[in-house]
Amino acid sequence: MTTKERILTLLEENRGKTVSGEQLAAALNVSRNAVWKAVTDLRAAGYRIDAVTNKGYCLSADNDKLSVQGIVPLLSETARPFAEYLRVYPELASTNQTAKELALAGAAHGTAVIAAQQSQGRGRYTRSFCSPPGGLYFSIILHPDKLHFAHVTTVTALAAVAVCEAIEAVSGKKPGVKWVNDVFLDGKKVCGILTEAVTDIESGTLGWLVLGIGINVTTRPEDFPPELREIAGSVFGGESPGSRNRLAAELMNRIPGCVPMLTEEEVIASYRSKLMMLGKPVTVVQSDGTEYSALAQDVDCAGHLIVQTEDGVKQTLSSGEIRIRI
Ligand code: BTN
Repeated sequence: MTTKERILTLLEENRGKTVSGEQLAAALNVSRNAVWKAVTDLRAAGYRIDAVTNKGYCLSADNDKLSVQGIVPLLSETARPFAEYLRVYPELASTNQTAKELALAGAAHGTAVIAAQQSQGRGRYTRSFCSPPGGLYFSIILHPDKLHFAHVTTVTALAAVAVCEAIEAVSGKKPGVKWVNDVFLDGKKVCGILTEAVTDIESGTLGWLVLGIGINVTTRPEDFPPELREIAGSVFGGESPGSRNRLAAELMNRIPGCVPMLTEEEVIASYRSKLMMLGKPVTVVQSDGTEYSALAQDVDCAGHLIVQTEDGVKQTLSSGEIRIRI
């Protein structure tokens, strides 16, 4: 760890308290001047660090920078072993893309790639995913052999539940899931999930998964392009210092080992409890663009949506080429 990283770690560990330059220098076994230089560099990188006369340094209450040091102290005991693989960037083209490159290079199960913004965020059906500042863009590499077998097929449902729980833990608000995996709050989409997999062609087995989650956290309406303002929302709608680090930790606490005690049925039961549309009329949009009205009835054990058409026929929809409007 560099001096800068170690100072940030100490300031995060003492959030809300002032730590003297002397204490920092002694703890790190460096000179006071090295501390001053590191604090200057951290401020230049965007960290808000207050200098309190005759007392020392304090990470400002309004510091909102995503960082490894801001996330790690908030990890649970089960997620802590994955701290060493955590990577946080101010900006990436796409965290899923970087995670895939890392996976190809042999990165470990539980390697998480986090960015504060993306220039080429990717969505489902090769769409782009608007990724302005104020969001949390999170991708995690999962090795299927390290997951409970029931979680390989239900990983997207698990992720949608994890996102809802993490948002609730950090904000107290209760989001819902629009099948398959869009998370909504107050009628607007606040999160999208994209799971990408690589299979071993020779054996036909699943090599690894990259689970990508994009959450609008403190994004303001004006941060979205005008055409998205009616449909895209964010958890806080504006400033909420530190909430992205807390949200990232809450996701890590729920995903890397994928809660080994949960069976497939339990995963689907939690997913069902978060679905906003059950018992309600929906419009099913098919791949050729044709639409029909139906009643959303349930999800089956694979997370497929069961709908009943107006003439009483039951259909089981897999996510593939079908969209739902509510
Ligand atoms: C969708 O709504 O269509 C899915 C959007 C998934 C976006 C996330 S943001 C983090 C990760 N990196 C990407 O490029 N995409 C996913």
